[in-house]
Amino acid sequence: MNKNTIPDLAIIHANELVTMDTRLGCPRIGDAMTELGIITDGAIAVKDKQIVFVGTTNKLKQIFEFNRIKTVIDATNQLITPGFVDPHTHIIFDGSRENELEMKLEGKTYLEILAAGGGILKTVSETRKASKEKLFNNGMKILNKMMSYGTTTIETKSGYGLTLESEIKSLETAKLLNLKHSIDIISTFLGAHAIPPEYTGNSDGYVDLIISKMIPQIAEKKLAEFCDVFCEQGIFSIQQTRKILNSAIKYGLKPQIHIDEIVDTNGAALAAEINAIQTGHLLKSNEKGLKEMAKKKIIATLLPGTPFCLMLKDYAPARKMIKFGIPIALATDLNPNCWTESMQMIIALASYNMKLKPSEALTASTINAACAIQRQDKIGSLEIGKKADINIFNVPNHQFLAYQFGGNLISKVIKNGKVVVDTQIRI
Ligand code: NIG
Ligand code: FE
Repeated sequence: MNKNTIPDLAIIHANELVTMDTRLGCPRIGDAMTELGIITDGAIAVKDKQIVFVGTTNKLKQIFEFNRIKTVIDATNQLITPGFVDPHTHIIFDGSRENELEMKLEGKTYLEILAAGGGILKTVSETRKASKEKLFNNGMKILNKMMSYGTTTIETKSGYGLTLESEIKSLETAKLLNLKHSIDIISTFLGAHAIPPEYTGNSDGYVDLIISKMIPQIAEKKLAEFCDVFCEQGIFSIQQTRKILNSAIKYGLKPQIHIDEIVDTNGAALAAEINAIQTGHLLKSNEKGLKEMAKKKIIATLLPGTPFCLMLKDYAPARKMIKFGIPIALATDLNPNCWTESMQMIIALASYNMKLKPSEALTASTINAACAIQRQDKIGSLEIGKKADINIFNVPNHQFLAYQFGGNLISKVIKNGKVVVDTQIRI
């Protein structure tokens, strides 16, 4: 960058500017998860949707003709971070399941509610009936809220259709949402989310449908980049999961898995065997499997919103995973059982209930989350050449993100170089 470059936007005087510099590790593993690459009195400049400068405010003023920069934001006493990446969500659905809260309070488990036709299957029946327009409008509402809390990229999944047509309807909705909303959306095919009612007692028949019809057509229409499976006792077995994901890989879909959420089915070892890009939940995974994941640096995307909503005592053993050398990411898992748009809430839950340090939780929500969806070259850190997806928070340091919970600490969200959320402006 030289004097002749005139940025469109500059943010100056941040008390802490968290760069998540990829030279400090990508994904961050072990102690490196606490390395945030913080610049004090930090400044950042943007031109044509890209970051063109990251450094101190003094340096920025030396490099550019400051007076010619069109928009300058003063971030005195504030915190700047990369935009949050939420790498595991289920936003394409209709209806809601607030009635299940009281069932859970009465002691009903997640699998009991599902077996009684509630849970995922209730949402499947409502989503099948919903028009694409309805699903699109639902998705827009969720995305607007996510953005207001600082999320700039998400992964989302199908999985509430469970027929070829309705899975395609869901993935086409995700594609349209990606086109129409500022948040970037990476799509995952999750046909193997539950056994649909038509296949009760014949899960192998449904697996055949996924393999022979759904995966080939979804791959051909380029409707998904990843393929996921809910691998769990009584849902999809290890053998079925292996079969589905190996077939997805043949069609160019990259594998990820929901594993060991309720029961240890040895999902972690399978994730290592098939080189899953990321895995979700891992509450019950055994140590041998976790060590195999660590060897292959397979990302564990931890979803503390889910045990919170299931009222479980135990969360995923995050400290043990970090000690083993597993890269950790965090995500909301937004779905009708666990409905939060806020990565800030997830950071707080991760700290208070999984014992992640605020620095580790922030790493897990930015650079490591970008790695979980293979977008670390473009997002997840504030570095020259990367997308200008930037959060400004009304707090002086990153510890606050975990410490002050339950509200919204955002001051401004910048997506692709544009201010898309400004909580300072009151109308
Ligand atoms: O990741 N566990 C499987 N799938 C989702 C929940 C889906 C639902 O309950 O609707 C999850 O938690
Ligand atoms: Fe999930």
